Amino acid sequence: MRTIIAIDGPAASGKSTVAHELAARLFYAHVNSGAFYRAFTWWVLRAKADPTSVEEAAAVLERTKLSSRFEGNEGILLLDDVDPTPHVRDDAVTHAVSFIARMLPVREALTTHLRSLAEERDLVMEGRDIGSFVFPDTPYKFYIDASPEVRRARRQAQGHHDEIATRDRIDSSRAYAPLTIAEDAHMIDSTHLTIDGVVGEVIGLLKLLGLSMPAR
Ligand code: CDP
Repeated sequence: MRTIIAIDGPAASGKSTVAHELAARLFYAHVNSGAFYRAFTWWVLRAKADPTSVEEAAAVLERTKLSSRFEGNEGILLLDDVDPTPHVRDDAVTHAVSFIARMLPVREALTTHLRSLAEERDLVMEGRDIGSFVFPDTPYKFYIDASPEVRRARRQAQGHHDEIATRDRIDSSRAYAPLTIAEDAHMIDSTHLTIDGVVGEVIGLLKLLGLSMPAR
C-alpha cells in the first residue's frame, strides 16, 4: 500500500483544484472519487434507469463491467471499457449523483475500485469519505471547507447549474459513509484563502507530519 493523501470536503469547497495541484507538486497520481460516482450516474442515466431506484441502479451495476486504471496521472473508472470523462460534469449527472452515491451496492463497488488504485501509485484522493472510510488508516487527512456563499459563487463562476446545498444535505445525511470530518483530519477553511494558500498550508502540514517531499 502506497502513500495516500485524503482530501475531503463539501461541494465547491476548492478541494479539486487543491488536490490536482498537490498531486502535481508531489508527483503523485490524482483521483477524484466524485468523478467515479458521477461516471456511474451517467451510466445509469444512459441506460434510462431511474437514478433514485436502488433496484434499477443495482441491476445496471450487475450487468456492467467496472474497471479502473490510470490515464496519465489521473485515476479513472471505465464502464464496459467506455471512458465516461466527457460526460461526468453534465448538469443531469450533477442533479442525480447524490441519489446514486447513497446506495450501498454502488458505494461498495466503487470503494473497491478506489482502494485498488492505491496498490499501484502514491495518491492524492479527493471526495467525501476518503479519510473517514476509504482510507481511514492514512495519517494524511485534510478536510477543506468554505462558507456556503463562497462555494455557491465558485460554482456559479464555473458556469454550472448546481444545487450544492441539496447535494450537501443528501451527502451528509446518508446512511453509508456520509460526508463527515474524520476525527484526525486537518481542517482548512478556504473561504479567504487562494488556492496557493491552501496548497501551501497542506504542504506545510505534510512536512510537519514527516512526509518526504520530492527534491526540487
Ligand atoms: O461537484 P463537486 O466537486 O463538489 O463534487 P464531486 O466531488 O464531483 O462529487 C459528486 C458527488 O459524488 C457528491 O455530491 C457525492 O454525492 C458523491 N461522492 C461521494 O458520495 N463520495 C465520494 N467519495 C465522492 C463523491
